[in-house]
Amino acid sequence: MHIVFAASECVPFAKTGGLADVVGALPPELVKLGHQVTVYLPLYKSVRPFLPEELTFAVRSITVPFPYYNRFAGVVDGGLRDGVQFYFIDCPELFDRDGFYGPKTGAGDYGDNAERFGLFCRAVLEAAKQLGVPEIFHVHDWQAALLPILLRTVYYFDPAMRSAAVVLTIHNAGYQGWFPPSTVPQLLLPWDVFHMDKVEQNDTFNCLKGGLVYSDYLTTVSPTYAQEIQTPEFGAGLDPVLRRRHWDLRGILNGVDYTEWDPARDPKLAAHYSPENLEGKIECRRDLLHAFGLVDVPDTTPVIGIVSRFATQKGFDFVAEIADRLAERNVVLVALGSGEPIYENFFRDFAARRPHQVAVQIKYDDAVAHKVEAGSDMFLMPSRYEPSGLNQMYSLKYGTVPVVRATGGLEDTIVEWNAETGAGTGFKFYGYNPQELLAAIDRALTAFQDKESWQKLMRNGMAKDYSWEHPAREYVEVYTEVLRRRG
Ligand code: ADP
Ligand code: GLC
Repeated sequence: MHIVFAASECVPFAKTGGLADVVGALPPELVKLGHQVTVYLPLYKSVRPFLPEELTFAVRSITVPFPYYNRFAGVVDGGLRDGVQFYFIDCPELFDRDGFYGPKTGAGDYGDNAERFGLFCRAVLEAAKQLGVPEIFHVHDWQAALLPILLRTVYYFDPAMRSAAVVLTIHNAGYQGWFPPSTVPQLLLPWDVFHMDKVEQNDTFNCLKGGLVYSDYLTTVSPTYAQEIQTPEFGAGLDPVLRRRHWDLRGILNGVDYTEWDPARDPKLAAHYSPENLEGKIECRRDLLHAFGLVDVPDTTPVIGIVSRFATQKGFDFVAEIADRLAERNVVLVALGSGEPIYENFFRDFAARRPHQVAVQIKYDDAVAHKVEAGSDMFLMPSRYEPSGLNQMYSLKYGTVPVVRATGGLEDTIVEWNAETGAGTGFKFYGYNPQELLAAIDRALTAFQDKESWQKLMRNGMAKDYSWEHPAREYVEVYTEVLRRRG
């Protein structure tokens, strides 16, 4: 089977969050299962260092029409990586910028995002016509959701495209790509798409909604989130469409790329360790505390780590509410993240008020993320919602015990520790409130006091296997089912 991925992020080229990890890891796994996979990405400024000075064009120029002008996009051949073919859509006026969606993460979007991702999706369709139309277009999130909208309208009568099916994966229903109604003529779409059963939502053009309507099959990134998004609480306005399509919706939990995330061989760590020999973790903890400027922290004081986009989704307002009570405990907090100013400021202030106990680095830094995973004793994810979440799965592998809110993929991956039976992998709270968060942290702090059972808890997590092979097989089942249905 030939599968074309269209997405706005992929490691190592462009990343703001877990979408990039997934688009980087799933395609090579599909190749291992015997499929042909091509990945299309925009050629952002961040991609440039991965390409040679002299670009190789697979397609020199694609004309993308807009109402009063044409834009021209090249298709740069990124070559094969782990058996996956990469192509980059080159349109410097739209993509050669510092940010992917806006000037800075969390600080607003570019005004021309409809045009940017509209061009991207059209260019992928045109490129596929020349370089190979796949059986399946697998598109990700709102940025690629214009592809099925275009395919089933503008390209409806195109014989080359007739047989191609589309699978759309929702990584986060909270980001939908809302634009004004004028987007319809701007992208040369027919006006009949602007209907409440299609792309229209509260008089705006909603890319993700259009993708949900026009794709053959929908997936999301955990079984629990697949249920949650069918409710008004989690559907962010799209729950009626998702309920309507519930027969075509499946939750497939994300995997972990253990070639990147394994404490036994992670080159970003000060020392290595494994379930058989945990000693190196102490060195990683020392290294982490040093990197964050925390000195004289006794071994009996647990370190809580955070690595996150600072977005409302992630529940840090709960942390702000319990901050002072948390600081009264015998605990150290280390946070790495960036995003919305309100959370950046909270962490900065908290660290300034408690310099011996709280340290924060406001930035995006992959090497530091690995250090936090390895050097912390506990990992905090109090998310309001979490479609899958990868960091809790990385934490399990690193023997760093997750404390999470039971939602989406967090609910599906973490089992509450039971000191009596010695079963469980972390600590979970259900209610949407700071008291339950603090209670879960307190349970973790109590468990930490018993060294022996804590090690059992760490090892339970380290023994979990979330490698990509299993989810990749589930995606192949989905592709096969979609092709079967199309006949
Ligand atoms: P989301 O996609 O919602 O941000 P995930 O848990 O799926 O959440 O994935 C987040 C990914 O982004 C992880 O690989 C995590 O390590 C990484 N990440 C998030 N913030 C940072 C940061 N400030 N520096 C480095 N890596 C980060
Ligand atoms: C989104 C979600 C996250 C998920 C990631 C990759 O950004 O917020 O939970 O793990 O996509 O699917």
